[in-house]
Amino acid sequence: MMLNEKQPIGIFDSGLGGLSVLRTALRMLPEERFLYYGDIANAPYGTKTEAQVYQYARTVTGRLMDQGIKALVIACNTATAAAAAQLRAEFPDFIIVGMEPALKLAHDQCPEGRILVLATPVSLASDKYRRLYENYGEHAVSLPCPGLMEFVERGDTDSEELKAYLRDKFDPYLDRPLAAVVLGCTHYVFLKQTVRELLPKSTLVLDGNEGTVRQLGRRLKSAGLLLAHGAPGEKRSLSFNIRQNEREIALRAEQLLRIPE
Ligand code: DGL
Repeated sequence: MMLNEKQPIGIFDSGLGGLSVLRTALRMLPEERFLYYGDIANAPYGTKTEAQVYQYARTVTGRLMDQGIKALVIACNTATAAAAAQLRAEFPDFIIVGMEPALKLAHDQCPEGRILVLATPVSLASDKYRRLYENYGEHAVSLPCPGLMEFVERGDTDSEELKAYLRDKFDPYLDRPLAAVVLGCTHYVFLKQTVRELLPKSTLVLDGNEGTVRQLGRRLKSAGLLLAHGAPGEKRSLSFNIRQNEREIALRAEQLLRIPE
């Protein structure tokens, strides 16, 4: 199939977390149109097996391709770890941009400092992350956070219960200077403000969203698929794999998209 620059870009995640990537993409690539898909019926991905996550990601990819996208962003660290390599092998001519916890960025910014990487159990157990950690993890501690994405799915980005969860994670590491915390799951990016409040001012809080969108822009440009002048109008449409509460989810999605980056 011949692709052209007017087609939309597909973005998907297990649920609402990838909206943090969509938010960055709408700012950095304002001409483009985006189709967002949240696979809520199968969420969370981060506590399943890699094989299951690959199956979910494969189904979503097929569905978005059927809708005529020109490129795919896997706005999910977990699905990237479990499925990106295989999807790229299946669709070698298609642009597929994935994500990984921004450990390299943290290491580049603070090569000697202590780093905490928050991500899902599947992400942290993957071969992809093991390779990243071997290269950049000398001073890093990896913290699996099962149950954390669920706060964001509920629309909770700052409750006392959430703060207690995060304090529990951070407290053991606050006895010595902490250079950076990496938000290695796209859901956690919506918690940035709350995470900042719980950490010393000097600790950097980093994520990979900008890097991912920059990479998307580069790939589209070199394939001649970057839209230079988009028509005015709806730049995004959201859809979710759910049968109930559709209105509620749509409202929650709009609320999350309004949180400043
Ligand atoms: N948002 C996903 C990520 O970036 C994972 C959330 C989940 O466990 O489904 O890893």
